[in-house]
Amino acid sequence: MNEHADVEHEALLTEAKQAAAQTYSPYSEFPVGAALLTADGQVIRGTNVENISFGLTNCAERSALFSAISQGLPPRSFKAIAVYAPKVPLISPCGACRQVLIELMAPDAVVVCQGSDPALTKVWTLKELLPGAFDSF
Ligand code: THU
Repeated sequence: MNEHADVEHEALLTEAKQAAAQTYSPYSEFPVGAALLTADGQVIRGTNVENISFGLTNCAERSALFSAISQGLPPRSFKAIAVYAPKVPLISPCGACRQVLIELMAPDAVVVCQGSDPALTKVWTLKELLPGAFDSF
């Protein structure tokens, strides 16, 4: 990772931390924040939003992406997403989010993940997180 990428990822993680503070997760008490970087430099945040009917929960990653698409940003116009969760040493996106992220971002888009231990911070591409994905692209 080059120096520029490092700075960009740190800034995105800061946004993801701010998003995690907006969580609605009274059932799991597991806050997660996401920050999506668009091709033109905008940042769109998302957090996990739970429901008493647990299956209706939306993860932070999908909240950010659905928000971006809803605001008119085109699918595939995103460079990276940062994900932050303070209650585990390192967060890793769930399988459902991987499927949604690979379609709406791109197989080569970057996922920066951080938990309570910054030394464990990981940078993956979506095709690393979901090899052999079901897709139409
Ligand atoms: N969650 C996310 O928002 N993103 C992830 O990558 C993993 C899990 C949420 C869903 C639920 O609200 C809580 O974390 C516990 O699973």
